[in-house]
Amino acid sequence: MCGIVGYTGHEEACGIIIDGLKRLEYRGYDSAGVALQQQGRLVVRKKKGKIEDLEKFIGSERLTGTTGIGHTRWATHGAPSDVNAHPHTSSDGRIAVVHNGIVENYVELRQKLADEEKIEFRTETDTEVIAQMIGVNYRKNGGNLEDAVYDAVQEMRGAYAIGVIAADTPDRIVAYRKDAPLIAGLGGDCKFIASDIPALLKYVNDIYLIENDEMVVCTPDSVRIYDENRRPVRREVMKVNWSIEDAEKGGYEHFMLKEIHEQPKAVQDTLLRRIDDNGRICLDGISLTKEDLQNITKIYIVACGTAYHAGLIGKYAIEKMARIPVEIDVASEFRYRDPVIDDKTLFIAISQSGETLDTLAALREARSHGARILSVCNVVGSSVARESDDVFYTWAGPEIAVASTKAYTTQLVCMYLIALYLGDLTGNISREYYDHILEELMAMPDKIRQTLEKAPEIEELARHLYNRTQVFFIGRGVDSAVALEGSLKLKEISYINSFAIAAGELKHGTIALMEPETIVIALATQDRLFEKMYSNIVEVKARMAHVVSIAKEGSDKIEAESTEVIYIPQCDDEVTPILTVIPLQLFAYYVAKIKGEDIDKPRNLAKSVTVE
Ligand code: F6R
Repeated sequence: MCGIVGYTGHEEACGIIIDGLKRLEYRGYDSAGVALQQQGRLVVRKKKGKIEDLEKFIGSERLTGTTGIGHTRWATHGAPSDVNAHPHTSSDGRIAVVHNGIVENYVELRQKLADEEKIEFRTETDTEVIAQMIGVNYRKNGGNLEDAVYDAVQEMRGAYAIGVIAADTPDRIVAYRKDAPLIAGLGGDCKFIASDIPALLKYVNDIYLIENDEMVVCTPDSVRIYDENRRPVRREVMKVNWSIEDAEKGGYEHFMLKEIHEQPKAVQDTLLRRIDDNGRICLDGISLTKEDLQNITKIYIVACGTAYHAGLIGKYAIEKMARIPVEIDVASEFRYRDPVIDDKTLFIAISQSGETLDTLAALREARSHGARILSVCNVVGSSVARESDDVFYTWAGPEIAVASTKAYTTQLVCMYLIALYLGDLTGNISREYYDHILEELMAMPDKIRQTLEKAPEIEELARHLYNRTQVFFIGRGVDSAVALEGSLKLKEISYINSFAIAAGELKHGTIALMEPETIVIALATQDRLFEKMYSNIVEVKARMAHVVSIAKEGSDKIEAESTEVIYIPQCDDEVTPILTVIPLQLFAYYVAKIKGEDIDKPRNLAKSVTVE
């Protein structure tokens, strides 16, 4: 969702800010803008559309100024438009604000400003209310920007991160965080604020993670952090070990394709962090003791979207290996019902970004009932990671494409490792089985590589099928969970209406939709369910469906009933999802590419969903 970048230093700020904004494009946005301090005044340029549209709008105009803020907006209050784009300014033009999040009480604050200060609003946004409030405070307090910001946020309800500059407070950015991501970057003689690490990787590797209810004041030489009572806070510097190459396309046409191809390494990195020299899973850095785990009677897995789909596989694995009951829910539902949860519950939150608001709210809800929180997270220092008792990191590196790929496969690895660890601890699995599944996992990077070699075959398939309007994904057991992920991938980037269903459910209604040439992608990788799945394929084939089957090498029988078959390497039924999803990711990618869609930034979607 919205992205914030701010710079104060000795170089021209405009280019640095726009470069940072480009690296936040993945968050999703519909307009962009910058505000710069120029000798006692503020210059604001903003535009609906892409950052390139903003650059064109700025054109050859030389926007000088060594302190500034920039923003990519994902519209919430007010349609995407030039006027609603950020930064927003106070009526006197002395204050500029960028904002990520929502001010829930903005209507009443707006009314108050209109009644008491006779402010005439120019936009429909909640952000203009912030700019006007700070503007009024600043004028009344004689030009103290920090006080003006602090006093304004005392009146604001909601989840937000803001960055503020003033025309006549040179070389200073004041920022505030409440439940929306914010970091500060530490260069030698320049400082930054940003919503996420990739925005700053080109310039700094040292950052401060800003906590909730903290105010940050950046000047070229210093970053000061204050808590909600304005007491100075000491913060450890966090060294970021991602490189700028990790956040660039590296010769691939799209981030999504690059990230699909990074999966062998991402899976390997995630495994190697957790397997010691004796071939045992190690939970270094995780404070859950054996006793804590033995006390657990129930596990709750909660997540959104693709992360939820990884959780579904986690449920299969944990229940099978550890025989502990697992409930799973999407975070937006979990947080509003009355879940049965207590201090014997282990709550597992899965989130790539660690900033998904619903997941975070669900985590807080679980904590308030006494649950122990373990998160599976990709972004070190993100809100979900910080609010968890323990974090099992995925080592996927930055995931930039909106459609999640390598985060999913690394989340699967984490879920298998957690399941195996618990299975071993509860004595439900033998040493042989434990070793066998670990060996299967260790073989995955190579098997993913082999599966990726099918890319030309899958591209060809996409070329034949890209113009269909309806696709069904079916499967049994873990394949039914992977079917959901394959369907989500296809619909989110190609806009084809796709639908996933457990194959056994077809007869209970959905088979009515089968017509000649309906595409059915049938996942048939489960040896123990193969015959059942085969019958389902026969059923849809009898209705003249175009069946693309995904099966393990050696399942040749399936060819008779399928229009096409894509084979994945042989592996244990339990861990097939790591491989089965690869052709589905590639299929979605190539269909979207052939259709000419904006693959990395699909319409209406944001990478990091920081509002409800
Ligand atoms: C789909 C996708 C989303 C995310 C979901 C949760 O490709 O990326 O469905 O999985 O928004 O995001 P995180 O994992 O950041 O909490």
